[in-house]
Amino acid sequence: MAQYEDKVLHHDVDGIQEYDNPMPGWLMALLYGSITFAVLYIGFYALAFGPASMSAEYRADQVVAKAETQAYFAAHPIVPPTTQVLLAGALDPAVLEQGRARFAKTCAACHGDHAQGLIGPNLTDNQWINGGLVTQIFTTLAKGVPAKGMPPWGRAFPPAELAALVAYVRSLQGSLPANPKPAEGVVVEPEPLPKG
Ligand code: HEC
Repeated sequence: MAQYEDKVLHHDVDGIQEYDNPMPGWLMALLYGSITFAVLYIGFYALAFGPASMSAEYRADQVVAKAETQAYFAAHPIVPPTTQVLLAGALDPAVLEQGRARFAKTCAACHGDHAQGLIGPNLTDNQWINGGLVTQIFTTLAKGVPAKGMPPWGRAFPPAELAALVAYVRSLQGSLPANPKPAEGVVVEPEPLPKG
């Protein structure tokens, strides 16, 4: 049986010699793997086999998401509850509490803790960009204003939760929070709440 022997290379520098051992297989696999990945990556992103850039890929995804959202709303038309139902919510402590909690979690980041306006408009004044009737506010919430940075919430939350948000927003009308964002849009007098 031939014993495995390390092969010593011929050169010898001041008594230091070198073995001719191959690199371990896993290291070679890693090396060739990275070369293959680099070639594919350059081919995909730089040579136009794939999207021109990550931002182009992002924009393409946005187009798909927008079409998907439109298709969703075409198949599930938004029917706001009646004005009476929405306004009655603004007098119902349980509904208001549901709206308040949801607002704090989901909306305050853009509209401010007290809806005084931040990235999004002030929701406590009597001026509205997209309509100030409670049914219009419901539709704005459900469909969003994607082009202006207001996300659609109609797929994330059931109608009852949107209605609770509308009731809460209605209850904040005229609440005069600190540091209000200047009013935007046209004046709409708030619809009167039903008598207790
Ligand atoms: C990512 C930021 C963002 C979040 C989160 C957000 N909004 Fe908005 N919202 C906006 C922007 C920006 C606008 C302004 C749209 C426009 O100019 O038409 C807006 C507009 C609105 C309007 C219409 C205001 C008007 O004058 O017509 C309402 C009502 C509203 N948001 C409520 C909400 C509620 C309730 C939530 C939580 C479920 C929420 N928003 C979450 C950014 C946001």
